[in-house]
Amino acid sequence: MEFETKAIHEGQQSDPQTGAVIVPIYLTSTYQQEAIGQHKGYEYSRTGNPTRNALEEALAAIESATFGLAFASGLAATTTVLSLLKSGDHIVAGDDLYGGTYRLLERVVKNWSVTTTYVDIDDINNFENAIQSNTKLIWIETPTNPLLKIIDIAALASIARQRNIILVVDNTFASPYFQRPLELGADIVVHSTTKYLGGHSDVIGGAVVTSNEQLYTELKFYQNAIGAVPSPFDSWLVLRGIKTLAVRMREHEKNALFLAKFLEEHPQVEQIYYPGLPNHPQHQLAKAQMSGFGGMISLELKGGFAEVEKFASRLKLFLLAESLGGVESLLCYPAKMTHGSLPDAERYKRGINDNLIRLSVGIENVLDLQADLENALS
Ligand SMILES: Cc1ncc(COP(=O)(O)O)c(C=O)c1O
Repeated sequence: MEFETKAIHEGQQSDPQTGAVIVPIYLTSTYQQEAIGQHKGYEYSRTGNPTRNALEEALAAIESATFGLAFASGLAATTTVLSLLKSGDHIVAGDDLYGGTYRLLERVVKNWSVTTTYVDIDDINNFENAIQSNTKLIWIETPTNPLLKIIDIAALASIARQRNIILVVDNTFASPYFQRPLELGADIVVHSTTKYLGGHSDVIGGAVVTSNEQLYTELKFYQNAIGAVPSPFDSWLVLRGIKTLAVRMREHEKNALFLAKFLEEHPQVEQIYYPGLPNHPQHQLAKAQMSGFGGMISLELKGGFAEVEKFASRLKLFLLAESLGGVESLLCYPAKMTHGSLPDAERYKRGINDNLIRLSVGIENVLDLQADLENALS
């Protein structure tokens, strides 16, 4: 079955009782048991809920995974995955990461006596060199947030497999429509479903998928034990978003490529980051491991914070807001928003400069978006 068909049908059979074509929102916290120990597969909605289960099946199907788990947020999904680690374990992470993941690693996970080494992702050998005898997990995003660098998932998976290390890929930016890390050898994929999977900026959610049964069993245990699960309504919203993921992603990418080319030529733009442009340093790698380049563009304006402020205030269609992946275009200023939790020294070291802007290109008419950018730039 092809992606578009899976997104609409997997886990989403008609309701056997009523014939309802759409999976109902099962607003129930508990389930009547026929006798002690005899139930219909559901006992309590933290442990399992039919709407959430439908979402979990759909998530697994579109990521080419055997198992899916849904969470209350992307960070809830991340926290649950990191619960696989024990005191004394070590993580190797790429150094271009969502700021909230960095904050979780440094201010929460570190308190569990689990430490992280961040490596410059421009050279894959840096990952291998950072591995210690206690390294249990490698964590990456690709494309990265916010600099849109690309990491070779298959090469990293081979390094991880040889050392028996779990490779986790946060696939939020690409979405499973453009990239499926499990097919390239990753062990676990994480999503903030708040973004492209939900797609309409109306829900916070997270996902974890894997085809490794042992990892799934552990993660399922932690999902229930930690309890950071999505409500049935939130599950339903993400499930609805997934149905149109393919058509939305195609439009996001078409608009982003057009605007990236326009911005690349603009005299007010100093630097542009978009993996779909031939002069992006990892363009060939992106072409090989992704089937499209996504809807995110980062750019550095000529000037500094004052110019960024002026630019942001003049935009009418690109809304100044955190988050990404919705149908509407958004502008984010990573230094103070998504990556505000990074100390300045760390931020500069990672190339998140004061003139960096991140655009989540929506699916509005691209000529309106171009006019909005042109007006603010001029
Ligand atoms: C790449 C990435 N991963 C994870 C998260 C965290 O997701 P959530 O905000 O749903 O907790 C975000 C949020 O912006 C993100 O951009």
